[in-house]
Amino acid sequence: MNYNWEQAIAARGKAMEWSPWAQRELPPPPVPPIQLTGGIPDPASLPIDDLIACNERVLRREGTFALMYGGPQGYGGLREWLASDANRREALATGPEHFVLTCGSAGGLENICEAFLDPGDVAIIERPSFPGSVRTIMSCLPELAGVPVDEDGLSVDALEAVLARLDTEGKRAKILYTIANFHNPAAATLSLERRQRIVELCRARNILIIQDDAYGRIGFDETAPPSLYALAGGSGAVLLGTFSKTLATGLRLGWVMGEKPVIDAITRMRFDMGVSPWASRVVAEFCESGRFDAHVERVTAIYRRKRDAMAAALDERCAKFARWSVPKGGFFLWLELGEGIDPRRLVETANEEAVQYVGGRPFFDDRSGDHFVRLCYSNVAEADIPEAIMRFGRALERAVR
Ligand SMILES: Cc1ncc(COP(=O)(O)O)c(C=O)c1O
Repeated sequence: MNYNWEQAIAARGKAMEWSPWAQRELPPPPVPPIQLTGGIPDPASLPIDDLIACNERVLRREGTFALMYGGPQGYGGLREWLASDANRREALATGPEHFVLTCGSAGGLENICEAFLDPGDVAIIERPSFPGSVRTIMSCLPELAGVPVDEDGLSVDALEAVLARLDTEGKRAKILYTIANFHNPAAATLSLERRQRIVELCRARNILIIQDDAYGRIGFDETAPPSLYALAGGSGAVLLGTFSKTLATGLRLGWVMGEKPVIDAITRMRFDMGVSPWASRVVAEFCESGRFDAHVERVTAIYRRKRDAMAAALDERCAKFARWSVPKGGFFLWLELGEGIDPRRLVETANEEAVQYVGGRPFFDDRSGDHFVRLCYSNVAEADIPEAIMRFGRALERAVR
């Protein structure tokens, strides 16, 4: 393809338009709204004192290195810790060479796309999916193939049908992007049986599996099934990780775990001078001192309580108007609105009742998601959840057709 820069903007127009934050103009709500929107950590849980202490130690001990360029693969000490953590949890045999540090998992996906995805390639995505990721993938101008997600994650029967269609069209998919654990927005977790079938199907066609594991550590009941990377024996699959949802989004620190040729390709292709050696060292100090596991345990307990509070309030106030499954982890509840609800009217009534949610539309590349709603419990104060859902219930009642 031979675009000039103006044509390049036009070609990416669909991706650029697709802002997850685009909202309808609405009048100001009567009282300050309760927000059930942004998928970010509980603000009161941020480990500020611990990070100050880690920062002080890092700067005094190795300030010169912390404040210099650190190279494209990122601080080795943190990659060592990530490898030992992955090995401990998944009985893997990774080393620091299997990791590259990235600007969050969002940056990891960008780095993967810039290394592997070309215009005209076929990229398989979930329907629904995280809009930021779909936009990143779309910016490489691939053909998108959407596969639906149900309570057990990506539908493998539907995936097989997509692959068969591509075969008849003489096309090959290059990547498959999945949020297998505690999905954003669908809150589903991909079953073990489906994971195994996906690995087989992708191996047979040499499709690179990209598992975005942004919420993987926020599990409430039992641990999630093994990663697709582990099931694939470390070949043909990568895992995107991040400290955003466990520690803090402002760190902008994530990673790609993958086989060495994949990590080497990403490291060689990136042009962003790597991530902050300073932030990487502070986080490594936090993790190596054993604080990370304790912190994850503490915040997971907070999110479990918030999930329980929101699920109980929904049962009480909203069961007539929508259905949902209770998530086993992550930050979100995903509601399918009953046929009697007018989603456009709900935008107005929720605004009048002063409660904010994210409608389902931006999560579907074909814009088919109007009858879904994503409610986020991670960021709202626990004490506000009953009031928020009472308002949401009233909004639903007023949005009946
Ligand atoms: C599924 C998913 N992937 C990636 C991201 C981006 O996270 P990060 O801050 O690690 O870039 C998010 C953020 O909401 C997300 O929900």
